[in-house]
Order: sequence, then C-alpha cells, then structure tokens
Amino acid sequence: MPTNPMDPFTVLIDLENGTMPDNTNYLKRNASDMRGHYANNEAMENLISDNGDPLHYEVFETPVPEDVGQLMYCLSRLQPGKVGDEFFMTKGHYHTVEATAEIYLCLKGQGYMLMKTADGKCAAEEMSRGRMVYVPPFWAHRSVNTSKDEPLISFCVYPANAGHNYGDIEQEGFPKRIFERDGRVVIE
Ligand code: F6R
Ligand code: ZN
Repeated sequence: MPTNPMDPFTVLIDLENGTMPDNTNYLKRNASDMRGHYANNEAMENLISDNGDPLHYEVFETPVPEDVGQLMYCLSRLQPGKVGDEFFMTKGHYHTVEATAEIYLCLKGQGYMLMKTADGKCAAEEMSRGRMVYVPPFWAHRSVNTSKDEPLISFCVYPANAGHNYGDIEQEGFPKRIFERDGRVVIE
C-alpha cells in the first residue's frame, strides 16, 4: 500500500460547450501569444491590431500530482480562424519526458493533429467528433482547427510526469502547415 493514497474523484465535463466547469487550472492563449508560429507574420500583426488580439485556445485542467503512475487530463478548446490563409493551431510541443504518449479524443469540431519526430517524420491525423488520436512517445504534437465556425474540442490524457517542451518546436517548427486554398484544406 502507498503511504499516502489519493482518494478517487469525479470531474464534470461539459461535452456541449467543451469546458470543465470546476477546473482549478485554466490556460488561455491569445493571438499575440502565438507570434512566430505562423508562416505569415504580417497577417499575425494585422490580426492582433485589427481584431483585438482574439482568443486562440483554452485549456481546462483539474491537475493531479505530477508523479509517475498518475494520469494528467485536460480539455482543449481551439477557436476557428486563420492567420492569413493558415488555420488557427496550438503552439505544439514535445513532452519533456520524451518516451510518453498521449491520447486525444475529439469531442467536437473538425481539424487535424499534426505530429513530427525529431528525425524528420511528419504525420497529420484527422480529428472529428468521436475520433481518437494516439500520439506515440517521441512525437511532438499540435492541433489545427479547420472548421469555419466551430471550436475544436478534445479531451487529452497523458502521463502526469510528461512535462511540456515548447522550446524545440519554437526553433524547429513543423515540416507541414495547414492552409485554406480556394476553399479547400491543404496540408503542405
Ligand atoms: C498536453 C497536451 C494538450 C495541450 C493543449 C494546448 O500534453 O498535449 O493538453 O497542452 O492542447 O496545446 P499546447 O500545449 O501546444 O499549447
Ligand atoms: Zn502533449
């Protein structure tokens, strides 16, 4: 028996709105937090100045201890929109403990999970209601909302000790981006 066992608990998830109403951790990123991540920096500056620095995405958590054996979970809610012709996306990260996987269950919306490895592999898996993306260990991941008017909402589960490494993605970027061209979604 562990010396300090945790008690079981439940958390309410609002499946319709994609929120965790009783969250104790709330992260919000606006357009200005995403500078440097999109292909068109000028379009990003115009979006910030002309559209009041719009909300990009939110993450709701009720954290558990970051110990080996625990599972962290969260709700991620990514707004629709574009920077130039590139769809809104999350920053993306490797896990600090690289050999840790993650599950994303898409609850609502339409988009892609873009993934890459440090040695150059890249993958894009479709996200839509009921589809689960398995992000294997060692793969950096970023979600992209390709809907015109609906948030992309996912429930994520990953080892609580995984941690987030944003720095490498800020330097490397992803080999592919997702654009709207002539009304079509293009990954290139
Ligand atoms: C956790 C995870 C997600 C993301 C969230 C926001 O490991 O992958 O909960 O943290 O979708 O994206 P980032 O962290 O890239 O800003
Ligand atoms: Zn992750």
